[in-house]
Amino acid sequence: MTTKRLSGPEGVAEAARLLASGEAVAIPTETVYGLACILTDEAVARVYAAKGRPSDNPLIVHIAEPEELHAAALDVPEMADVLARRFWPGPLTLVLPKRPHIPASVTAGLDTVAARCPAHEVCRAVIRATGQPLAAPSANCSGSPSPTTARHVLDDLDGRVAAVLDGGPCAVGLESTVLSLTGNRPRLLRPGGVTREELEAVIGPVEADKAVFSAPDARETPSAPGMKYRHYAPNTPLVILRGPVKAARAYALAQPGRCGVLCMEDEAAAFEGLPVVQYTYQTLFNALRRIDTIGLEQVFARVPEPTGIGLAVANRLQKAAGYKKVNI
Ligand code: TXA
Ligand code: MG
Repeated sequence: MTTKRLSGPEGVAEAARLLASGEAVAIPTETVYGLACILTDEAVARVYAAKGRPSDNPLIVHIAEPEELHAAALDVPEMADVLARRFWPGPLTLVLPKRPHIPASVTAGLDTVAARCPAHEVCRAVIRATGQPLAAPSANCSGSPSPTTARHVLDDLDGRVAAVLDGGPCAVGLESTVLSLTGNRPRLLRPGGVTREELEAVIGPVEADKAVFSAPDARETPSAPGMKYRHYAPNTPLVILRGPVKAARAYALAQPGRCGVLCMEDEAAAFEGLPVVQYTYQTLFNALRRIDTIGLEQVFARVPEPTGIGLAVANRLQKAAGYKKVNI
């Protein structure tokens, strides 16, 4: 199929028309681009097929107004409304018991639904114009870094989806925070655009699922099914390199083959003499995509402190590296 390039108000109208007819359309959000569809089995199947996504990994349901949460979820606790008032529209996803009309194809058979009201006005306009909530995973091929520009979406999905609606680069650049409110205590399943500290300031202690920090155990069922898959990985081998920056530089220089470093601006000068790819939290996924274009045999990633937005960055880098790390 030919993937239409859409933009502006006519683009929103055309995207909504295609979506309502059951097509998969990539749309901007403030976090990353999503590959959207209406909540029918047929449309959802198109999204999974285009991405090559395993069918046991559920989709987030996107709503245009915070109040619509009650139409998707059951037994919504007061805490969910408090969080919605404080952080929606925005990069927070809430997991709650699902209403029966939400199809099992969307939730991968789980009895819960993940819902989010995005802050990107183009995204909300598309949902309103379609007249119904939209399910959407990130608009990348399964396993590759999430797309933060329409160009990234086309690099992965050109010819595989009906259209891409260009809404400019994503302001947050990392996916939403996924918080489960189905147990006795709120549980962080995926760190993201809203930090754990920001959540705790509003609702008190938030337990972090162990998948936030460490490799999933193949014998266990993870709380967010998506956490067990390899993710965000460039083709170039990536290894986390921990320790003082001088020792890290010496280590990287001593390795055979053409090695590079992925680091933030504050360390870039210290890795002089090595090819350096710089990232900020907004440009991390773009940097992971760029790594493959510069012909390196191995890249060493420097990881920020796991506090604030650094927790989400550290989580994505660990996954991108397949949890491979060197401590010096
Ligand atoms: O920022 C975002 O969240 C972006 C934009 C497009 O909204 N979406 C996104 O979707 O990152 P995706 O599919 O790439 O990641 C959704 C994550 C997965 O790890 C999935 O397993 C988890 O949310 N998830 C979805 N429904 C769930 C549920 N009912 N229970 C637990 N985890 C769920
Ligand atoms: Mg994704």
